[in-house]
Amino acid sequence: MDSQIDFHQANALLEWQLEMGADEAICEKPQNRFEMPDVAPKVRTPAAAIKPVPARAPPPDPNLPVMAARAAADGANSLADLNAAMAAFDHCELKRGAKTTVFADGNPAARVMVIGEAPGRDEDIQGKPFVGRAGQLLDKMFSAIGLSRAGQDAEGALYITNILPWRPPQNRDPLPAEIAMMLPFVKRHVALAQPDILVLMGNISCQALLGKKGITRLRGNWTDAVDLPVLPMFHPAFLLRNPIAKRDAWHDLLMIKARLDKDRPE
Ligand code: URA
Repeated sequence: MDSQIDFHQANALLEWQLEMGADEAICEKPQNRFEMPDVAPKVRTPAAAIKPVPARAPPPDPNLPVMAARAAADGANSLADLNAAMAAFDHCELKRGAKTTVFADGNPAARVMVIGEAPGRDEDIQGKPFVGRAGQLLDKMFSAIGLSRAGQDAEGALYITNILPWRPPQNRDPLPAEIAMMLPFVKRHVALAQPDILVLMGNISCQALLGKKGITRLRGNWTDAVDLPVLPMFHPAFLLRNPIAKRDAWHDLLMIKARLDKDRPE
């Protein structure tokens, strides 16, 4: 082939191709690709050789885990049943990363049921809610109004659980989908325990049961949810970081005591 370029130009072009990553000549003879037809000739494929394109699986229905949770929760007729149903529930990814399913602690006969957010590291290891630093503060707070998880009678007892029974990785906030999925279990838990009062610790439990966030505004105001009087309070983990807010927490504890005294069964 006659070439219009000299050796040096050809050498520079080759070097450029090498720099672009070309490492082998792929044709015996040079081809002028500018003269090739634009459209590749059609090759007839025999019908038998055409593979059927598999139908794309529809995306999973996001309501499915919630419906499964509702069915499992509604089928539980005792706290032991509910504990077993939650431990067997396989739709939540958090379960795969958790060591234990943290169900509850304290006395289920208690007049006061506390609902927190989710287990942390200590809770995941021990399989009980609120046993780390925040839990120790929670115990001190409630013992100041005569309530404890070790209390034997309903009057002096406390029952404690969380919105999620599995620790989120790195203690991140629970996702709305995780909350929605586990909410039927929480509601059933309350229905089976039948406390007189619910105390919601922090934003996540308020988001789950009241559909509201903004604990600074919500705390210290009685409201209703799941047919019970509900008091939102600052989460003890927040109180550890903001000790000045303990004054508000004390105010809220006194509100709980006053309500228990007022509504004490004869
Ligand atoms: N924080 C929570 O909300 N729950 C626990 O069990 C521990 C820490």
